[in-house]
Amino acid sequence: MDFAKQVKDSVDITQVIGEYVRLKRMGSGSRYIGLCPFHTEKTPSFNVNGALGFYKCFGCGVGGDVLKFVMEIESLTFWEALKLLAEKNGIPVPQRSEYSDEDSRRRARMQELHDWAEKAFRENLAGGAGSEARAYLARRGVSADTASRFGIGLSGSGQQLVRLFERQGVPHEVMEESGLVLRRQDGSGYFDRFRGRLMFPIHSDTGKPVGFGGRALAAGDEPKYLNSPKTPLYEKERILYNLHRAKDGMRKRDRVVLVEGYMDVIGVHDAGVEEVVATCGTALTLAQIRLLKRFTTHIVMNRDPDMAGAKSADKSLETLLTEGMSVRVVQLPGALDPDEYVRERGAEAYRKAVDEAREFYDWYAAWAKASFDLTSPEVRVEVLRRMLQTVNLLPDKLRRLAVVDNMADILEVPKGMVLDEFKKAAAERRVDVRRKPETAGFHPNEQLLLRALLTNPEAREEILPVLKPMALVERFRTKGIFEVVFRLAETHPEFTFSDLEERLPDGEKALLAELIFADDQGGESVPFEQALGCLRALTESGRKLQKEEVKKQVKEAERAGNLEEALRLMRQLGELDHEV
Ligand code: CTP
Ligand code: MN
Repeated sequence: MDFAKQVKDSVDITQVIGEYVRLKRMGSGSRYIGLCPFHTEKTPSFNVNGALGFYKCFGCGVGGDVLKFVMEIESLTFWEALKLLAEKNGIPVPQRSEYSDEDSRRRARMQELHDWAEKAFRENLAGGAGSEARAYLARRGVSADTASRFGIGLSGSGQQLVRLFERQGVPHEVMEESGLVLRRQDGSGYFDRFRGRLMFPIHSDTGKPVGFGGRALAAGDEPKYLNSPKTPLYEKERILYNLHRAKDGMRKRDRVVLVEGYMDVIGVHDAGVEEVVATCGTALTLAQIRLLKRFTTHIVMNRDPDMAGAKSADKSLETLLTEGMSVRVVQLPGALDPDEYVRERGAEAYRKAVDEAREFYDWYAAWAKASFDLTSPEVRVEVLRRMLQTVNLLPDKLRRLAVVDNMADILEVPKGMVLDEFKKAAAERRVDVRRKPETAGFHPNEQLLLRALLTNPEAREEILPVLKPMALVERFRTKGIFEVVFRLAETHPEFTFSDLEERLPDGEKALLAELIFADDQGGESVPFEQALGCLRALTESGRKLQKEEVKKQVKEAERAGNLEEALRLMRQLGELDHEV
């Protein structure tokens, strides 16, 4: 069997997608729904059909099989997605180069360079040249064990990687593309981007090193942190530092702690809070929030949301709220870094601070109280207005009202006034239109028969020959789909749902998805008896239609005085009556 098919058949699409999207099972069938990971929505329009191995979002229109999903969500090529799925499910991957395309090969090459670099950096740190760096780590409370767990290393002094890559026969353009090597301005040669720095490998969510952050060791060495540039493997806006180690913890504790820097992640992780990630020197992006949402919708920020000065709350906070995340904020006494706090006050104190993190709006109120003169009524109203801009991002209405109520108390502003302002702001709030599959317009028989053809091989064998010559199919809304089914069955009697799906034109694809998700039974196997009954009913109504047609012709023949023809038609009518 085709390898892609083998992989598709042996994975459960609901399980694969379930790692990225919280799916809820509908009814007792194999239909699941959830919030679409490909666009922002508040009511779920993302459907997965486990039995047919198919997903479809009726909000933004995306849809396909499990491979398509992995390709889209992980931004992988077909071959990479296939490989990822196979590896995750213990299916041996054939070493055939025809599966691999230029893009995958390029990234695989980049990956190799990063693997070698990480290893070289680690060895530097462990070796003779690493004693100063090791002492630095020890001073900062990072044990050898922790350093090794995070893959911390030390970059060489000038051309270590260039030489290493040259020995492996890597062309200079490829070295440059990896971001690990730079070309001299005058074109006279190549040198390592990172030199004499403490190296933090940044991993993909599957745990492969795809970039580095390099910290200066000598005071005054600028910049303090030097990071990998954008490469085919690494884009800082799409990566979260430590995500692959934090995954399990995030699922287990149903929360994620967001900190500012690499050292903070390491300190916090050491304190026993494993569900911790950091951005790599950027604000939190939508792509990163979507990444986090695969695991949890609760975020604990241990870096100050940047509120001061800005007219409204900072962009990433806004995105967090619109994406339906619940946000809490940790405030560490003494304005310490999480890393410093853990080292100075201990793990337990830190864990307590995280557990007691305040709900964002409480934090906001406290922050406003400390930052503004709230004795002035004008200031109070201004603070409230800013506040309402973020409150209105909350997807849940009851929650919005509860927060507003609470704010009125905290800011000591009359409730009526708060509500007025709230209504004003609410009017400006964009409305999210709920979209669901359109169920109208299908004949129950066409729906059932198509399902039977797709899910029950026995039924398929019996139904097809009978159904094919039926004129009634012409009246189905899905006749285009049936036509493809008929043709497909001639060459591929054992065709699957995705065999059919991939042969349909886009319009028919949408129709098929609509039909599959029109009710909760879309992917369930139709019992043979039921399919047969349905076919009988169809045959019957087909016969009725035909009889009416013949009767009409009889009348016409009589009117035209063509008795011979009328008699022939009458005989035909009689035959139609006796047919079983
Ligand atoms: N950062 C960066 N470039 C810089 C400075 C900082 O990319 N020139 C990013 C790094 O990801 C860093 C984070 O911002 O981890 C936080 O910076 P900072 O607070 O200055 O450093 P710490 O992480 O606290 O590192 P350390 O404790 O070693 O000073
Ligand atoms: Mn720090």
